[in-house]
Amino acid sequence: MSEVLLLEKLEGRIGVLTVNRPDKMNALNREVRESLFETLEALRHDDEVRVVVITGSGDRAFIAGADIAEFKDAGAVEQYRSMQESNIYSLMEDFPKPIIAMINGYCLGGGCELSMACDIRIASDRAKLGQPEVNLGIIPGGGGTQRLPRLVGEGRAALLIMSGTLIGADEALDIGLVDSIFPADELRDRTLEIARTIASKSPIALQAAKESILAARRMPLDEGLKFERAWFGLLFSTQDKNEGVGAFLEKRDPEFTGR
Ligand code: COA
Repeated sequence: MSEVLLLEKLEGRIGVLTVNRPDKMNALNREVRESLFETLEALRHDDEVRVVVITGSGDRAFIAGADIAEFKDAGAVEQYRSMQESNIYSLMEDFPKPIIAMINGYCLGGGCELSMACDIRIASDRAKLGQPEVNLGIIPGGGGTQRLPRLVGEGRAALLIMSGTLIGADEALDIGLVDSIFPADELRDRTLEIARTIASKSPIALQAAKESILAARRMPLDEGLKFERAWFGLLFSTQDKNEGVGAFLEKRDPEFTGR
């Protein structure tokens, strides 16, 4: 495990990934991106881990964007290739388990884009979010122009992307950029409580829910409804469905195994 990305496994079921470059506001450099690739690949095949939480080290930043120092001498072709080759945003969106962004501070540029590639965004009341790339003479390149309008609407996305203005957690909650906010000193416990609740569900049902929710933005409605029905039917072939229904009827807690 690299020093710039820490992995904790809590209660066996929750994988907490911490981007660890606090002196650089946890900016995403090549090493962080490569470590994220490797670690997520390992977590994908780790049947124990059912939910991933991603956060930043220290109390100032979640991720303050791509590492701007790496932009200095980059040319068009290398930059285009590197965005294609190590697209952590698509990797996270297509990851088969739920990912929660625990936003503990500045969540800017590539950091905001990374949070939008997660399934759920939970922020500290001190967080600040935005897409300030325009201040550098560029635009978001990790999906910001696509995922932000889908989350908050085109006008609000244009306002954030074109002005480069940062917003606080309250406003982010109002516009739907984050899903919940907690006082900074409660953020970790409250986020882990949510992660624990999700981790107690059937891993196959969670994957079905994630893929079906993503289908809502990737497919026309009639195709998305068919996709959901197909998953719904498929889940009737699982032991977890028998366990969930059986546990309800027997008035006990279910123990899902992912089979
Ligand atoms: N890439 C590389 N380094 C970054 C960074 C980034 N995206 N964001 C912050 N840092 C570094 C700073 O250069 C500084 O490093 P130094 O101490 O070696 O000089 C360190 O992190 C602390 O940042 P600093 O700017 O001193 O803190 P601040 O509290 O005054 O401001 C921010 C915090 C986040 C508002 C400011 O750092 C910032 O605007 N960062 C860039 C955000 C951005 O444009 N992101 C999109 C990139 S595409």
